Amino acid sequence: MDQIVIHGGKPLRGTVEVSGFKNAALPILFATVLTNDVCIIGNLPAISDVKLSFDILRAMGLRIDQLDKTTYRIDSRGATYGKSPDHLVEKMRGSIYIIGAELGRFGNASAGNCGGCNFGQRPIDQHLKAFRALGATVEECEDGRLNAWADQLVGKVIAFDVVSVGATVNAILASVMAEGMTVLENAAHEPHIVDLANFLNACGASISGAGTDVIKIRGVSSLHGCTYDIIPDMIEAGTYMVAAAVTGGKIEITNVIPKHLESIAAKLREMGVSVEEGDESVTVTGGDSLHGIHVKTMPYPGFPTDMHPQMSVLLCVADGISYMTENIFEHRFAYVEQLRSMGASISIDDRVATIQGGNRLLAANVRAVDLRAGAAMILAGLVARGKTVVSEIGYVRRGYDNIVGKLRALGADITDIDTED
Ligand code: UD1
Repeated sequence: MDQIVIHGGKPLRGTVEVSGFKNAALPILFATVLTNDVCIIGNLPAISDVKLSFDILRAMGLRIDQLDKTTYRIDSRGATYGKSPDHLVEKMRGSIYIIGAELGRFGNASAGNCGGCNFGQRPIDQHLKAFRALGATVEECEDGRLNAWADQLVGKVIAFDVVSVGATVNAILASVMAEGMTVLENAAHEPHIVDLANFLNACGASISGAGTDVIKIRGVSSLHGCTYDIIPDMIEAGTYMVAAAVTGGKIEITNVIPKHLESIAAKLREMGVSVEEGDESVTVTGGDSLHGIHVKTMPYPGFPTDMHPQMSVLLCVADGISYMTENIFEHRFAYVEQLRSMGASISIDDRVATIQGGNRLLAANVRAVDLRAGAAMILAGLVARGKTVVSEIGYVRRGYDNIVGKLRALGADITDIDTED
């Protein structure tokens, strides 16, 4: 049984340390393939998506050894292309980076259907546009397999039609050793794009402009290994910020980059939550009377779609009406049905959820329908009085390092059913 049991109603208090960022770790792990050398990667989160990435990379011929709790030695000298096992690849959206990494290193790439959370259609047209612009031939097979190859990748100006984190990552991976200059226009700004660029530059790449919407990549003939620490997980941090607010507690969240949390902090403050920034920490104190607001998800530096379900839980307990507009993934609202079964009053019209706040959430048996929805259910269970059981918690383990242990240390009555058994 893959369940978490929560007896809610306790304000959370104390300090929690944030782990490394999943969405930076995955591109950087696949980027190590490009180096044909040894990399020492630190601050890796202990989450199942990282373990899955290790399994895929090992099948591709990399050697991976753990050096300490969060640090791994990754040797990509034995890497080959086309060896990633389909049954692993299909479990994780981040597997799409195999194509950019293999193409960039070998000029030849092949991987099965890439999975991930189900937010409706997750097109990859912008990834393919980038590969083709660089001179690759791309073959999309009926079973979802992608094959790509090129005699020589050549830098180009690539103007993305939509801002896509994944396509920006893949374009960087494929172009970092292409001939000449690649310019990515309308690129994603996310901190994990900057982290990937910093990692590759530490390996000898020449990438400028990461963090803006124009990224320039001057192709280099080869890369070398380096030692690099992954940035802290802004979504994990944001989830603990909401945990403090929703339970009326006070949590100091450490190992964060406060700048990455500004859009989340701004929305919490707008509701009446206190957020104090330190150099590498934020302290969040829940208020007595929180009021409803309008939240719109946007690419960075806007409010992240990966914080949408968690924020909705807070909007349920705040006074008055709130609106949550989802601008990135149309099927992000899958959590709503689960929250309704806990007494939430939410109606959805197209991309806007109208949330009637001031409702006491009721303990219930609910499901984690995807990664962030699962985190939202845990937050709802923390505030609802009585026993909440969240099942299919495997989704949550994909992106949250030791969430049960961290919440328990903050005073939550939460048990992993495996441990309880
Ligand atoms: C990544 C993150 C995910 C986060 C999302 C948005 C990883 C492993 N996942 O997902 O946690 O929620 O960024 O911050 O890092 N699109 C296209 N064509 C494409 C690619 C994307 O139309 O070729 C659209 C998508 O449908 C979506 C939008 O662009 O509406 C943004 O998607 P994207 O930024 O690519 O998300 P992912 O990289 O899949």
